[in-house]
Amino acid sequence: MDLHGTQVTVTGGAGFVGSHLVERLAPDNDVLVVDDCANGDPSAVPDAATFLEGDVTDPAVVADAITAQTDVVFHLAAAKAVDTDRPREQFEANAAMTYNVLERMDEVGADALAYTSSSTVYGEAPRPTPEDYAPLEPISAYGAGKLAEEGLISTYAHSHGIQSWVFRFANIVGPRLRGAVIPDFIEKLREDPDRMVILGDGKQEKSYMHVEDCVDAIVHVVEAAEGPLTQCNLGTRTTTSVDRIADIVSDVLGVDPTYEYTGGDRGWTGDVPRMRLSVEKLAGLGWEPDRSSDDAVRQAAEELSEEL
Ligand SMILES: NC(=O)c1ccc[n+]([C@@H]2O[C@H](COP(=O)([O-])OP(=O)(O)OC[C@H]3O[C@@H](n4cnc5c(N)ncnc54)[C@H](O)[C@@H]3O)[C@@H](O)[C@H]2O)c1
Repeated sequence: MDLHGTQVTVTGGAGFVGSHLVERLAPDNDVLVVDDCANGDPSAVPDAATFLEGDVTDPAVVADAITAQTDVVFHLAAAKAVDTDRPREQFEANAAMTYNVLERMDEVGADALAYTSSSTVYGEAPRPTPEDYAPLEPISAYGAGKLAEEGLISTYAHSHGIQSWVFRFANIVGPRLRGAVIPDFIEKLREDPDRMVILGDGKQEKSYMHVEDCVDAIVHVVEAAEGPLTQCNLGTRTTTSVDRIADIVSDVLGVDPTYEYTGGDRGWTGDVPRMRLSVEKLAGLGWEPDRSSDDAVRQAAEELSEEL
């Protein structure tokens, strides 16, 4: 679809990826952001967008955010903790939000949806993992929730005419990222530049993508991919180990710490220690990331060290 001049709703648009997506869309489109600011920052929403503060688990809020005039919905609102002591609550809230969005779109005849899923739907799959890899066996309730929501979206795509793009993200990094490995290392090293504790054995190895590439790819795929339902991995062709991230962050901060490890092959229960997604489908649609995984980590470390 051609996104130019469209009326767009972005759920979770005050969050990390959402605020960058809104920055990208707001100049050319009529953008409405809905976010309850549980993990978002209203000051990150550009003035050019309309901001509605509200909880997407509430159907009345969704009714205000999605109307018969809405051309496309980018549904990013979610709680995203893989390691949470309240997995059921998170699963139910995320599933309720996606169901609310789909029901409202069906009710008013809005027929285009972009959804942010995750590499976690694949579980511990062989790498690089293509979109048609099966069986999908997530190892966290967060990943199971994303898979369940993908199933609901498939239903509405095939039986209710809502064209959908499902983006399975690698690890997205860049300005405004919080609660993830790069900002955590920056904060730890600011507290103690001589010594840092690393979760796991440091050998976890994953693909990192810069948020500018991520939103660029989302817009490209929505404009390029036809058909009722498109799943598309968003990542880089390379990976970066946790030890390497620690080295890059140390270098950016100009410190030289010794590392200590909590041990084991993963950081927490449900962590997938090795992840690299196939990006052949993305390349086939005409898009390649500008940065490697290491480049994305370094740029994000530099940007985050300025704002933290
Ligand atoms: N950042 C990543 O590396 C990554 C990886 C895989 C998938 N994703 C997915 O991408 C999306 C965006 O992630 P992000 O990193 O920007 O996270 P984020 O937490 O920064 O953004 C999510 C936004 O949703 C909002 N939100 C949460 N619950 C809400 C509710 N009930 N009602 C209204 N708003 C609510 C939060 O306040 C936040 O602003 C999420 O769906 C996430 O699961 C992100």
